[in-house]
Amino acid sequence: MTYRPTRVEIDLSALLQNLTQVKAFAPKSKILAIIKANGYGHGIIRVASQLSSADGFGVASIDEAILLRQNGFLHKIILLEGLFGEQELELVIQHRLEVVVHSFYQLEWLESVSSSKISQITVWIKIDTGMHRLGFLGEELVELKARIAKLKNLANINWLSHFSSADSSVDFTQQQIKKFAELTARVTGEKSLANSAAIERFAESHLDWVRPGIMLYGVGGHKQSVPNFKPVMTFCSQIISLKWLERGDSVGYDNTWSADKKTLIAIVAVGYGDGYPRHAETGTPVFISGQILPLVGRVSMDMINVDVTLIADKVFIGSEVILWGKNLPVAKVAKFASTISYELLCGITERVPKIEVKDD
Ligand SMILES: Cc1ncc(COP(=O)(O)O)c(C=O)c1O
Repeated sequence: MTYRPTRVEIDLSALLQNLTQVKAFAPKSKILAIIKANGYGHGIIRVASQLSSADGFGVASIDEAILLRQNGFLHKIILLEGLFGEQELELVIQHRLEVVVHSFYQLEWLESVSSSKISQITVWIKIDTGMHRLGFLGEELVELKARIAKLKNLANINWLSHFSSADSSVDFTQQQIKKFAELTARVTGEKSLANSAAIERFAESHLDWVRPGIMLYGVGGHKQSVPNFKPVMTFCSQIISLKWLERGDSVGYDNTWSADKKTLIAIVAVGYGDGYPRHAETGTPVFISGQILPLVGRVSMDMINVDVTLIADKVFIGSEVILWGKNLPVAKVAKFASTISYELLCGITERVPKIEVKDD
């Protein structure tokens, strides 16, 4: 129980609805639900429970994977960055995890595993098709394939790559799709390319497995909000003070904004201490009483200031405020804070309670 009105509401039915939409986009592919970073800030166990009809889960670390196993999830789990240390191999076997291999140093660890143990390991070879973050380059594949061929007992060898700009560049994404097709033309095993934006925009990239992340949380991969995708997280608070300012009066730290006319300012109980972005500019949209209104002045640790003059007769102490989610796409807020939806979703802090709701 917390007494502060600031909270995050997690709409469980939206998660399921979004999964259904992903299936509609990619009906022939299996779905690896990406739930790393604590389920994009929504709570990994809660998200996994709701998405248990997905074919598998993608996580960033063995810690997240073990947490899922400890909570009874028997699904396929892929470690998207593979192993960070050789000592994780035992845990991979014990917990039946699948591992991405993106570099030769990780391959060396597999080469040191006994043949009986290696028969329990499935690997996903990551190919660098242009993002240049993780993965083997085309010219490294000859050596890679030769070394993998010697690991005859590996349970399965699958292949994946990741798009750098599926939401912004058609040309570059098509080049990546083509490169992946060329580099994996003669390999067996399952293949995976598509993140959310590609699921929506590039059907030719769907292959055996799609890997939706942000879309499951109801945030459009490509557009700000895709029809039929429902935001899962709604970040809410309340008005705790209302004050009329005269022309020339300022509000908040450093007096960065001042009123150009008589203005009603609402102080809302949310700030960067909760994960509201400190860099949100004057003009960032805030939803109050059916209206989008502008944030003004600096974001403080526990409070923001909103110009509510337009709805002066409708606001009161305790009025509900939506920072993002229902009625206000998080992508719109992100733009005003020079960031992306992903960062805002992941950035909700510990002190904010998460409340599960089921909205129809
Ligand atoms: C390897 C991999 N696949 C899939 C995803 C999901 O991406 P998105 O959230 O854009 O759908 C991510 C997320 O960063 C990723 O790292």
